[in-house]
Amino acid sequence: MRILITGAGGQVGVALARELAGFADLVLATRSDLDLSYPQGIGAFLRSAKPDLIINAAAYTAVDRAETEQDQAWTVNATAVGAMGRWAAEQNVPLIHFSTDYVFDGDASEPYSETDPVCPLSVYGKSKAEGERLLLSSEAPCLIIRTAWVYSDHGKNFLKTMARLATERTELAVVSDQLGTPTSSVQISNFVGHIVRQGQPALPELFARASRLVHFTASGWTSWHGFASAIVDGLKRRSVPLKASKIRAIPSVEYPTPAPRPKYSRLSAERLKQVFNYHPEPWEQALNHVLDTSYGKAAGQ
Ligand SMILES: NC(=O)c1ccc[n+]([C@@H]2O[C@H](COP(=O)([O-])OP(=O)(O)OC[C@H]3O[C@@H](n4cnc5c(N)ncnc54)[C@H](OP(=O)(O)O)[C@@H]3O)[C@@H](O)[C@H]2O)c1
Repeated sequence: MRILITGAGGQVGVALARELAGFADLVLATRSDLDLSYPQGIGAFLRSAKPDLIINAAAYTAVDRAETEQDQAWTVNATAVGAMGRWAAEQNVPLIHFSTDYVFDGDASEPYSETDPVCPLSVYGKSKAEGERLLLSSEAPCLIIRTAWVYSDHGKNFLKTMARLATERTELAVVSDQLGTPTSSVQISNFVGHIVRQGQPALPELFARASRLVHFTASGWTSWHGFASAIVDGLKRRSVPLKASKIRAIPSVEYPTPAPRPKYSRLSAERLKQVFNYHPEPWEQALNHVLDTSYGKAAGQ
């Protein structure tokens, strides 16, 4: 099977390339190979790449910058995704795409299911929701995987930021009133590997059984403060020299950002379990694996 992975240099793209190497013939496309800011070039690129499966891990992910770069975010996250979907529908090529918990407004008090209406607060969330809508209306044999709070051992993410700040500052202040689920890029790529190994002919039917949309995160939940505390604790257990001795919990109003974030964005795993028979590991365990990769095993592990 020949699999095209776009955004191959991103957190999820790199993890996917590692996961699927050896299983399939991979075409790894970075922005210099396929720039989604120019959706008019997508058809020609896909024709020459001849994929049996497309995995679109590329996205405009700068959540705050999107508030002032609306056109760029919209082109990459919505228009380009629609164009990919139309090509996949015409050629009957399965397509896996990623979306985000930020399509929800966070007013819920129990995990969001795939049938809950979207109501994004930010430009990024709106552009991703429009990408979902365009992809589903293209009638491509696709699967949209909505995930959340992605981190990895490479790229820009909350884990890397906290690890850096904890070596620079004696005290960190982290918001404690936004609840969600940290999810490692390895967990996402393991799930995609589980799907892809079922074989290309089985994919459209499998996707249809999920109504072409599934929520995927680690199991469990926490706040950004809880996540930061677990990171710092994990670093200490690995004897990483840190300055930070205190992580102060603050409300979101004390840490204003250009893009508003949902206060609550847990995603239900019901469809994941029922259709895919998949049970992701708890976020704490997944974090330990990523810390092991970057910093070695903790004492006593
Ligand atoms: N990160 C999160 O917390 C999070 C949460 C929920 C959902 N998601 C979704 O998960 C998916 C993967 O995200 P990620 O965390 O892996 O993001 P990431 O690390 O920012 O990677 C995104 C990739 O997209 C590429 N890209 C950006 N603009 C592009 C363009 N115009 N043309 C081609 N490629 C372009 C980037 O390339 P450059 O390096 O050249 O910029 C980068 O390699 C995305 O759909 C994202 O919306 C992410």
